[in-house]
Amino acid sequence: MRQSLVVGNWKMNGTRASAELLVKDIIAGLESNNSGIAVCAPYVYLPGIGELVKNTRLALGAQNVADKPSGAFTGEISAAMLSEFDCKYAIVGHSERRTYYGDTNESVAARFCQAQEKGIIPILCVGETLEQREEDQTFSMINEQLDAVINLTGIASFDNAVIAYEPVWAIGTGKTATDEQAQEVHQYIRKYIAAQDQAIADKIQIIYGGSAKPENAKGLFAMLDIDGGLIGGASLDAESFLKIYHSI
Ligand code: PGA
Repeated sequence: MRQSLVVGNWKMNGTRASAELLVKDIIAGLESNNSGIAVCAPYVYLPGIGELVKNTRLALGAQNVADKPSGAFTGEISAAMLSEFDCKYAIVGHSERRTYYGDTNESVAARFCQAQEKGIIPILCVGETLEQREEDQTFSMINEQLDAVINLTGIASFDNAVIAYEPVWAIGTGKTATDEQAQEVHQYIRKYIAAQDQAIADKIQIIYGGSAKPENAKGLFAMLDIDGGLIGGASLDAESFLKIYHSI
């Protein structure tokens, strides 16, 4: 049985005080549940949040990680730096990074690799735009996004990684994929991995992101190949985030 996982992606929101309050409220509201839970906080809040989550079930993640180990890369944060703050996860290849900051399949693969080298579990985001979906390019896009990582690090690296399927057209738009639309792509991803390594495919957590809310989480999480969620907007409110988590 795969363990489920719900991850909050706060993006560039909140203040130091609101971030700490949010984490305290999440911890206080956690009911016993075997599923994993994490929040990906803005870099500067990681040290403070790291202290608050110590000895709790709530894990910490970053929203990105540099594609190089160290050096003259102004503004970047390395995996080694993140690992000093007990970061269990790092999101790589979020569509906002790909769209607004020029992350390419190749640089995302390098970020994935950097995270793993420092023992951080990469959460690899993949997904198609509306245009690509309408032109029947969903699966070929996913192939390209996965292949870039597989070609660099090998399929075995997915033994310690999470994949987030995030249709770009559903992120922050209020338009959630239907349970069946999401399941279709999750199943496709799992089969794609299985063609190269069945054991990894059976084990890897593939989570859904894109306007997931308390109202639609249960249906999505009930699908066979959906192992949880990467939650943006709804993770900024402790009650909503907990409702999503508890609906697994
Ligand atoms: P959303 O964001 O839940 O606000 O759509 C999801 C994400 O971008 O990870």
